[in-house]
Amino acid sequence: MAYADFQMEIYLGGLQGVVPEYPLAYRALQRAARRVLSDEAFDYVAGSAGSEDTLRANREAFRKWRLVPRLLRDVSVRDVSTRLFDVDLPAPVLLAPVGVQSIVHPEAEIAVARAAAELGLPLVLSTLSSKTLEEVATASGDNTRWFQLYWPNDKEITTSFLHRAEQAGYSAVVVTLDTAYLAWRPRDLSHAFLPFLRGEGIANFVSDPVFRSGLAQSPEEDPQSAVLRWASVFSAPTHSWAELAELRAATRLPILLKGIQHPDDARAALNAGVDGLIVSNHGGRQVDGAVGSLDSLPAIAEAVAGRVPVLFDSGIRTGADIVKARALGADAVLVGRPYVWGLAIGGDAGVKQVLRALLAEMDLTLALTGCSSWDDVGPDLLVPL
Ligand code: FNR
Repeated sequence: MAYADFQMEIYLGGLQGVVPEYPLAYRALQRAARRVLSDEAFDYVAGSAGSEDTLRANREAFRKWRLVPRLLRDVSVRDVSTRLFDVDLPAPVLLAPVGVQSIVHPEAEIAVARAAAELGLPLVLSTLSSKTLEEVATASGDNTRWFQLYWPNDKEITTSFLHRAEQAGYSAVVVTLDTAYLAWRPRDLSHAFLPFLRGEGIANFVSDPVFRSGLAQSPEEDPQSAVLRWASVFSAPTHSWAELAELRAATRLPILLKGIQHPDDARAALNAGVDGLIVSNHGGRQVDGAVGSLDSLPAIAEAVAGRVPVLFDSGIRTGADIVKARALGADAVLVGRPYVWGLAIGGDAGVKQVLRALLAEMDLTLALTGCSSWDDVGPDLLVPL
């Protein structure tokens, strides 16, 4: 079945008086989530750093490039499958690591894992998940899952996380490097809201044997001390390129670095022997006034020159955005906020609809621009505005 068939499924439903359960346009989706979430939770997801200029730049970067449709190319059969680290994927789309999902839905990452598994799209699980990585692995079944590592400043905890991820069937490690500190985020600051300090989003820490062994009393007996210890190991501004070798040696899994925005950092990553890169600015949540993530992609793809996969995120809202990211050099993309809004309003069903809509729109955009596969999409499909 082609992803585009979701379109006819919706129209046929209309004949029975059925319309899609959740909004399809991004803004309407966000508005619907706004209505069901607390101010704190909504702002935590929607917000970004400082004046939120980078969030806007991420979207503007997409608008600067225009697709040029090509015609009469027999696009009746389309194949959007791709292969990453020896695993076949039905589509070049992954679910970005998003922490502390319990603030938007009680089933949190479990619901997301179920939706991802139904569609066969890989889930990248955050270090700061509300459910443990083992619980999410169980909910994922045999679906592909990667573990996102916020590299703690404690070697033993780092090793323990990597070991647990391997044991639980995660098949790659995404090391997010743009979060040496949490950025200045005025929305969260104005609510004085940081969920981790309230004990949410630290499930992987409080369930970790090494983390627990460093506490005088268990997190169940003394949650406050566990939170304080989390705060002391989480922030890790001392890490350097030289230390990547230690991480490399600590796991047999492929390692991707997330947060790359400069071609020289991409080159440094290749020199360090990593297996993939994720061009990302954390959805604008870390550096205010930064370059739009898509603006960084072409130079990085050029520097990497196909030696390792280059993935992209920050600002993907539509299927056309996915095609543009591909045309500028992405091997696959990660979707962030859109699926979180789906989770907020509909649990796994909400996530699933959001992803199916994105895939359908991507598939139709491919067809309507004259492409039959992901590999057909190249820079010739775009002109600058
Ligand atoms: C994130 N992101 C993120 N990244 C990461 O590596 N680990 C994490 O725990 C989180 N947590 C997180 C929470 C929330 C609420 C958001 C919105 C984002 C960043 C995420 O992986 C991705 O880079 C962005 O979401 C992409 O930007 P858009 O598409 O959401 O704008």
